[in-house]
Amino acid sequence: MLSRQLKPASTRLVRLAATRPVSVWSTVPQGPPDPILGVTEAFKADTNPRKINLGVGAYRDENGKPYILPSVQEAENRLHGQVDKEYLPITGLPSFTSAAAKLAYGADCAPLKEGSIAVTQSISGTGALRIGGAFLSRFYPTSKVVYLPSPSWGNHTPIFRDSALEVKTYRYFDKSTVGLDWAGMIQDIKEMPTGAIVLLHACAHNPTGVDPTKEQWEELSGLIKEKGLFPFFDMAYQGFASGDIAGDAFAPRHFVSQGHQIALCQSFAKNMGLYGERVGLFSLVTASPEEKARVESQLKILVRPMYSNPPVHGARLAGTILNDPALYAQWEGEVKGMASRIISMREALYTLLTNTYHTPGNWSHITSQIGMFSFTGLTQAQTEVLASKRSVYMTKDGRISMAGLNGGNVEYFAKSVDGAVKGTL
Ligand SMILES: Cc1ncc(COP(=O)(O)O)c(C=O)c1O
Repeated sequence: MLSRQLKPASTRLVRLAATRPVSVWSTVPQGPPDPILGVTEAFKADTNPRKINLGVGAYRDENGKPYILPSVQEAENRLHGQVDKEYLPITGLPSFTSAAAKLAYGADCAPLKEGSIAVTQSISGTGALRIGGAFLSRFYPTSKVVYLPSPSWGNHTPIFRDSALEVKTYRYFDKSTVGLDWAGMIQDIKEMPTGAIVLLHACAHNPTGVDPTKEQWEELSGLIKEKGLFPFFDMAYQGFASGDIAGDAFAPRHFVSQGHQIALCQSFAKNMGLYGERVGLFSLVTASPEEKARVESQLKILVRPMYSNPPVHGARLAGTILNDPALYAQWEGEVKGMASRIISMREALYTLLTNTYHTPGNWSHITSQIGMFSFTGLTQAQTEVLASKRSVYMTKDGRISMAGLNGGNVEYFAKSVDGAVKGTL
């Protein structure tokens, strides 16, 4: 006991270090919180019963509740207890992947009919983008630069950077008109180096809700071909933009009809409400069935060390719906229903701001923008006041998810926006 007490301090420190080593991870810095999940956290902590969360990009029904599509419920019922839980092939469930490709490209698409589209099931839209980024990084011969619209979905930049691609941007959104910066977009595309990859949101651009018109898509197709750029489509909202599955796929279908070999990412999170099931598709248009076979062999080599093979349940649900004509027709109606509810909320909000409250400013973009999101044009300061004074939550850039509005809260929201704009809150 006595000899222990007499030990010099340095010996004690060495002992301490040996029993409590500095952690291997002690140099890992704290990362910033996710900007969208941060909004949800603040919303959850708020006790105001009138609080509204317009940050989250998930559909809500007229009562503000998550929505299970009846067609999905029917598919669940049919599958219940009927199927095993075996592994899927590396590129997924063939009955799902072929039906999903048909949904995107259209049954009369020439490369689809001749068997030239390489496909792999993906972990929703994000996984499709990640596979696409990795494939292009490994095999696209001309460029390692991908151009994103400015602004774009917040996850695009990290996805492509983590795929070892260099990320640059092109002009897309005009703050002064809260619409498309068509001239800026065209000029920037013209100035891209030949062969660069250009990411295009197929429909319902996130976060702006601003899409090119059909005529503009046609012009873009011509320009992108002329410049020898590679069109990489992200289609996370097929059906959500207009309620019309085929109409929302106009851009990728048109590009393919014009001979572009596009890459395409699909998600069934929004249009089937399968957010947590993580079901999507990545596809590449190739020149022949033989080339498709080579490309698919490399997609397998890419996927196998990433996650081996995709989850099965969501693909079975989506596949059941897409392959049964009656269930498919029912689902189409339900997608239309979701899109119509969103459109009706746009109209209600526009009418309240302009006719009821006479809120200063031009709000026509509320109804002209498309899809789940709307860029309101509200400033960061106004979004902060809305959160602190009215418990109305949205991302700092003024983006709102229209799906979070309903008959019970749209008036409260419009009145709050009016107060924030007039500075009376
Ligand atoms: C533009 C865009 N791409 C892709 C995704 C991917 O979504 P998920 O991985 O849930 O399918 C989203 C989701 O918000 C999106 O808005």
